[in-house]
Amino acid sequence: MFKVNENYLKLPGSYLFSTIGKKVREYKEANPDKEIISLGIGDVTQPLAPAIIDSLHAAVDEMAKKETFRGYAPDLGYEFLRSAIAKHDYAARGVDIAIDEIFVSDGAKCDSGNIQEIFATDNKIAVCDPVYPVYVDTNVMAGRTGTYDKNTELWSDVIYMPCKAENGFAPELPEETPDIIYLCFPNNPTGATIRRPQLQEWVDYANKNGAVIIYDAAYEAYISEEDVPHSIYECDGAKTCAIELRSFSKNAGFTGTRLGFAVVPKDLKAGDGTSLNALWTRRHGTKFNGAPYIIQRAGEAVYSEAGKAQTAEQIAYYMKNAKLIKEGLAEAGYTVSGGVNAPYIWLQTPDHKTSWEFFDYLLENANVVGTPGSGFGPSGEGYFRLTAFGTYENTVEAVKRIKAL
Ligand code: MLT
Repeated sequence: MFKVNENYLKLPGSYLFSTIGKKVREYKEANPDKEIISLGIGDVTQPLAPAIIDSLHAAVDEMAKKETFRGYAPDLGYEFLRSAIAKHDYAARGVDIAIDEIFVSDGAKCDSGNIQEIFATDNKIAVCDPVYPVYVDTNVMAGRTGTYDKNTELWSDVIYMPCKAENGFAPELPEETPDIIYLCFPNNPTGATIRRPQLQEWVDYANKNGAVIIYDAAYEAYISEEDVPHSIYECDGAKTCAIELRSFSKNAGFTGTRLGFAVVPKDLKAGDGTSLNALWTRRHGTKFNGAPYIIQRAGEAVYSEAGKAQTAEQIAYYMKNAKLIKEGLAEAGYTVSGGVNAPYIWLQTPDHKTSWEFFDYLLENANVVGTPGSGFGPSGEGYFRLTAFGTYENTVEAVKRIKAL
């Protein structure tokens, strides 16, 4: 009889956002008259920008003609998109990234889950706590995390880097040396960022210790302050120790159309000299048939003058929501952070409620959905995340309801 991958059986519970979705569906079924506002999963609400829509239409028309029809996309991505990325995301910031270091994908979630495949299963990972759950869960699936302690909710073979109010929700260099370090800035879920000198310390640490940093920069478009790096490659030496993941979901509303990319520099080598760029090229070629042509054309339009202006407007729209949530909750006496360089507001639950108690309380009494901090890791207990990705009207209403509690 066949057997399953036993690592999957070690995963506790269901995926965080699936658990939340189920709870909300059950509540809606039992309370059909209630108008629920979701500030839970970080899903955008603004339609795709006109420049992107125009580009989608044009690409669809090309698909309808014999002369311009496209079949399989190149597995690493079309050159028109990769060169736009190299120019606008990197060269414009003084960073030299070659086209063959850019791997177009169907999103940063998949990349952040898949990238661990090219590393040995006995590599030790270090993660922030709280953390985007995909990093840990996919390493559990790979058998890299040891055993799970139900009481502490920690894995024996994972190095946790607690991010608490005391350290500005920024991780400190771990005492035990990891092989793979996951960093996400601006951070999901806390909305915290680090400055360039702090990120440089991580790069120097990784280079010194032979570790690789998997840098998730999915929220870089939300950075509003100077001296907060948009890319890890703004730091000296990052090309020999870091992979960067980017997403079109949050910077241009592609959560439903799916597009992202990974940067794997050619200078990045494992201890035995193996090129990670070559391994990821091999993996992409084998397991991925390329993001759709029409979606890559839409991605290219994000970098057009009109696309840049229109997506900047959308980001400003969401950041207005962020300000509204942050200020509204602070006025109501909540301790809040984030929301300045990120579309997430991180708040302390009131009255010593656990994160899940507050989730239920908010759902039942304000009909507002958020994300319990403990779902991101034990250091998230006692915290709660609200997203700024709702509509402005719903955000105003949600804040009003929370203030009235
Ligand atoms: C979140 O809410 O944390 C994110 O939207 C999830 C994701 O991007 O996969």
